[in-house]
Amino acid sequence: MNRKKSVCDIDVKGKRVFVRVDFNVPLDENQKITSDSRIVASLPTIQYLLDQNARVILGSHLGRPKGEVRDDQRLTPVARRLHELLGRPVKMLDDCIGDKVIAAVNAMQDGDVVLLENLRFHKGEEKNDPEFVKELASLAEVYVNDAFGTAHRAHASTEGIARLLKPAAAGFLMQKELEMLGGMLANPERPFVGILGGVKVSDKIKVIRHLMDKVDSLLIGGAMMFTFYRAQELETGRSLVEEDKIDLARQLLESGGSKLCLPTDVVVSESPDEPVNLHVVPCSAIPENALGMDVGPETVKAFGEKIAQSRTVCWNGPMGRFEVEAFAAGTRGVAEAIANSDATSVIGGGDSASAVTKMGLSDKITHVSTGGGASLEFLEGVDLPGVAVLEDA
Ligand code: 3PG
Repeated sequence: MNRKKSVCDIDVKGKRVFVRVDFNVPLDENQKITSDSRIVASLPTIQYLLDQNARVILGSHLGRPKGEVRDDQRLTPVARRLHELLGRPVKMLDDCIGDKVIAAVNAMQDGDVVLLENLRFHKGEEKNDPEFVKELASLAEVYVNDAFGTAHRAHASTEGIARLLKPAAAGFLMQKELEMLGGMLANPERPFVGILGGVKVSDKIKVIRHLMDKVDSLLIGGAMMFTFYRAQELETGRSLVEEDKIDLARQLLESGGSKLCLPTDVVVSESPDEPVNLHVVPCSAIPENALGMDVGPETVKAFGEKIAQSRTVCWNGPMGRFEVEAFAAGTRGVAEAIANSDATSVIGGGDSASAVTKMGLSDKITHVSTGGGASLEFLEGVDLPGVAVLEDA
């Protein structure tokens, strides 16, 4: 992929700049933000624009309101947090298009920041509707996309707008994500170890295929290991298995050869929600009435040794149901091995990013991606629409 024009390659002084950010942050039942890492990650771009005396118009979605206005998906808590982090006022608007919004952006002074209301309150956002695109584009003179986490969506604010509103450049977070993930795939220091977890082979099949050609070893964990076991004719008790993906798993085992490493032991329980008769068994002896919930200690040791010898590690997907403490040891073991290694380490967002954050290890990781679905698609080799549309440097 060509290098994209950066926010620092364009003139933004005194200009109205539409910055697409990904402020899709988790909120609890009291509308309290439970992780502000996506807001923090967007600060370098916002701060740079403010230092340049630009007028910053921020746009984001929150959740999936599907074209309806929903009070519990307003961006008000985000505006409050951003105000605290920036130490300057952030004006929250109550819509993202329309006369009142136009009046508000026209009244902006250099160095002002406004946050538009949730873009997905309008159906035109996800439809990439040309009329909605036009209205968004009319708000600003320059477009910057810093929303790596939403770059896999061809929506009005991520794709359509960049065709109309030029210059269209990447923000610093977008650039960093592309450099880290792209650099790792294009030119990894070797040995390069990929670690994939998660529940379904069907969700990870494209990543497995794409990474298989690039890595020296691919370590597989998470519930998808049981579909691979069945492909090896092993018994899996009541563990989750995708029956219709067993043949596919068999093909992957054949094509992967010795690169593909499966867990050799498993933590089993009689309940998926709590430890009931919890014990560790070899992969060849999963009891009939048990469910595999995590990789076992022998696997953690073997995976840890591979990680310790590597120079580049890419991890996406937990090793077991780590939200339940009794089933978290495998994910923790892998996270610690990565944190303690000297390798360049990149964590594809989503659950594995939450796991390292929860375990307090994110500072020891070279790059924790802010993208869940976006980093997964990037690792699959997909040209993300929100990136492809930006101007080349
Ligand atoms: C995410 O959280 O992965 C992004 O914000 C994209 O959200 P979406 O899956 O609702 O498009």
